[in-house]
Amino acid sequence: MSFIVRPYELKDLFRIAEIEKSCFEHPWSYDSFCMEYADKSKHYFVAENEDGAIIGYGGFMHVEDEAHIMNVAVAEPFRREGAGAAIMSKMLEKARSLGIKAVTLEVDNANVAAIALYEKSGFECAGLRPHYYGWDRPARIYWYYFDKNRA
Ligand SMILES: CC(C)(COP(=O)(O)OP(=O)(O)OC[C@H]1O[C@@H](n2cnc3c(N)ncnc32)[C@H](O)[C@@H]1OP(=O)(O)O)[C@@H](O)C(=O)NCCC(=O)NCCS
Repeated sequence: MSFIVRPYELKDLFRIAEIEKSCFEHPWSYDSFCMEYADKSKHYFVAENEDGAIIGYGGFMHVEDEAHIMNVAVAEPFRREGAGAAIMSKMLEKARSLGIKAVTLEVDNANVAAIALYEKSGFECAGLRPHYYGWDRPARIYWYYFDKNRA
């Protein structure tokens, strides 16, 4: 499968919401993505395959000199072909270009695929946040630092 990763456009939001719905227990709505689109602190990217179909997306919020990854998802039939890693790499490239120093995210401690993706992308686990996704579902907190020699 070949694909490109590019900044999202208004026309992509319906498909993004569709993928979101297929991937998450408590999905964001189409309206939520419209609000994200209107917010200049948010930076989203989509992976688009050779047929022009959106197969995945990811986005972050820029706050001061940090970025907070809001979500990353790839539609089920297109997984394990590098789209998630490519979206992550594009987000990190954009964050770096904005002068961001560190990128953080939370992930369900049981989400093996996402954890593997983040660790492969260079994120370091800083610990667990108990009850984040439910009583017995802690989140792992991850950070990525552009300056690997930070104090
Ligand atoms: C997490 C997710 C985005 C990964 O997308 P993807 O396109 O399949 O990821 P990639 O193909 O780029 O995989 C990159 C690396 O991540 C790891 N990885 C991805 N899926 C994995 C899985 N199911 N099991 C173990 N490792 C996995 C591997 O190290 C992989 O590299 P490799 O294929 O060379 O071994 C995808 O599984 C997904 O959309 N899940 C549902 C939504 C979700 O949970 N998002 C994260 C919310 S915090």
